[in-house]
Amino acid sequence: MQELESSWPDDQRRELAAGLAQAAAQIAPKFFYDRLGSALFAAICQLEEYYPTRTEREVLAGCCDELASLAGAGRTLIDLGAGDCVKAEHLFARLQPRRYVALDISADFLDASLARLRREHPALVINGYGCDLTTDWSLPAEVPRDARLFLYPGSSIGNFAPEDARTFLSRLRANADADGQLLIGVDLVKDPATLVAAYDDALGVTAAFNRNVLLHANRLLGADFSLGDWRHLALFDPVRSRIEMHLEALRQVTVAWPGGARQFRAGERIHTENSYKYREKDFIELLRIAGWSNVRCWTDPRRWFAVIFAQAA
Ligand SMILES: C[S@@+](CC[C@H](N)C(=O)[O-])C[C@H]1O[C@@H](n2cnc3c(N)ncnc32)[C@H](O)[C@@H]1O
Repeated sequence: MQELESSWPDDQRRELAAGLAQAAAQIAPKFFYDRLGSALFAAICQLEEYYPTRTEREVLAGCCDELASLAGAGRTLIDLGAGDCVKAEHLFARLQPRRYVALDISADFLDASLARLRREHPALVINGYGCDLTTDWSLPAEVPRDARLFLYPGSSIGNFAPEDARTFLSRLRANADADGQLLIGVDLVKDPATLVAAYDDALGVTAAFNRNVLLHANRLLGADFSLGDWRHLALFDPVRSRIEMHLEALRQVTVAWPGGARQFRAGERIHTENSYKYREKDFIELLRIAGWSNVRCWTDPRRWFAVIFAQAA
């Protein structure tokens, strides 16, 4: 784990090329987050259709007193996929952490977020690391092991398939002492129209976010994707309980990059994201299996989004 160095090393480029070469082409969602992608995600969070950010904020506002008394002050708050760090920042006053540690694959964007944070919270110890949370990561020794509180908001856990989510939650548990804690945001199952609209807004910001991954691929791989050849697609798979995002070729396209090339038929897709939607009890069971207990779960009146606090078992 590098203190804010570029976290797009060669193995990421190889992974990207391998995903494009697969029979069913795919690009992992982490590749959304170049600087523009991170800014587009921040814009998505302001959209009317994108209820998760707003709902999570409302749930947190309602539970923050109880959360503060459960968590206790003086923790090391570890923000996983911190982005603009705004969600964690809103918790500082209540949680009073002694240290804030932000992890994100988009190291440049995180660097800018932390520069702002350091100006506004000069007394707080702040560390930032560029890292890929889908790998076998662990925190550097300089981050105290005791009193860790992991924060994983925004339902980013939904990007993992349930079995991978369990592995990830177990890894968090392994990165904590017996006093470890977790605060996680989880998007819940709801009507498909609401879900699809959240990933296919009328203004087209999510479409831009999805298509921007091709520009990122062009830079990382030296590929020659042309944006005009691709359209954004979001759909809900009720069997797997997940939103899927794809990019669909509008015509037959050949894409080349140094060392590789791929032809796409008209209508062929690149799968760019899954976002699994949970039932509360299923996610709590996942936490239990991964070594977390004493679960406290808060939701909004419509039960659209859950904020869950858990302690090391
Ligand atoms: C959906 S955004 C959430 C941002 C913020 N935590 C929030 O809730 O609004 C996902 C964040 O995780 C980061 N991210 C995505 N994939 C990642 C990965 N594999 N490893 C580390 N960070 C990742 C992105 O750069 C982005 O900042």
